[in-house]
Amino acid sequence: MTTLLDQGALTAARTWCASAPVEVHERIGSTNDRVSELAAEGAPEGTLVVARLQTAGRGRRGRTWASPLGGLYFSFLLRPSAETLRSGLPATLVAGLALCQALEGLTPPEVQPELKWPNDVLIRGKKVSGILGEMSRDDAGAALVLGLGVNVGAAELPTELASTATRLPDLGATPAPEEVLGAFFASFGPLWTKLTCSATSAAARDSLLREAARRMPSLGGPIRLHLPNEVVEGVFRGLSPSGGLILEREGEAKTYLAGDVEAARPQR
Ligand code: BTN
Repeated sequence: MTTLLDQGALTAARTWCASAPVEVHERIGSTNDRVSELAAEGAPEGTLVVARLQTAGRGRRGRTWASPLGGLYFSFLLRPSAETLRSGLPATLVAGLALCQALEGLTPPEVQPELKWPNDVLIRGKKVSGILGEMSRDDAGAALVLGLGVNVGAAELPTELASTATRLPDLGATPAPEEVLGAFFASFGPLWTKLTCSATSAAARDSLLREAARRMPSLGGPIRLHLPNEVVEGVFRGLSPSGGLILEREGEAKTYLAGDVEAARPQR
């Protein structure tokens, strides 16, 4: 473990759970795996693991997440209540929106972060961050690990990603990793607090879905949705209350909870 990333800044960033532990690693297998281990030992909500390099970074649908030195890789633990789980709150979408808001404040005004359903963050059509949510149960209840990889800087992207991924320096922004983390949690904490408090959750969910939809350029247009065993085509009509994708095909609307979206014509 190193102090490469400022532990004090990372601790202060998580205002809604400031006493939860933080681990900072120069190098680790996967921050999601490490948070899962800590969760199994009873770690509290907000437990955070940050690394500058991962040797076994994982993406959605069993994919590898290239994690060279100089990127920002972090995972944190949520412990949603039974009521929050029943409500189908789309936690990964909350993280995607929080990262968009964070990057809006850290990049030049003409840079507009977008969400690609369900929760990739893109800038100018190229992926700048991916989010992996993994749920398990332990003696302390539900454990939801959210892991984010953000192409913050120094790391050159593998050549095979050049046409689909981007890095903040390519967009004229060079925030320190701590700044990105601080800005992310400054957005995520209040959103999560409002969404999980019964007095504010309904209004907060409406606002979450509206703000997320506003940042999804493929919404309203024809898409191809890649599912594990098929590709379905239709019009992306909107988001369901749990963040699902509502696809209209031949006059019928169906909600999907996972998949990879491909725009079927240039986006608005
Ligand atoms: C995706 O787009 O497929 C999701 C990528 C998620 C990558 C992050 S990096 C930090 C955390 N640790 C992992 O092994 N994966 C997530």
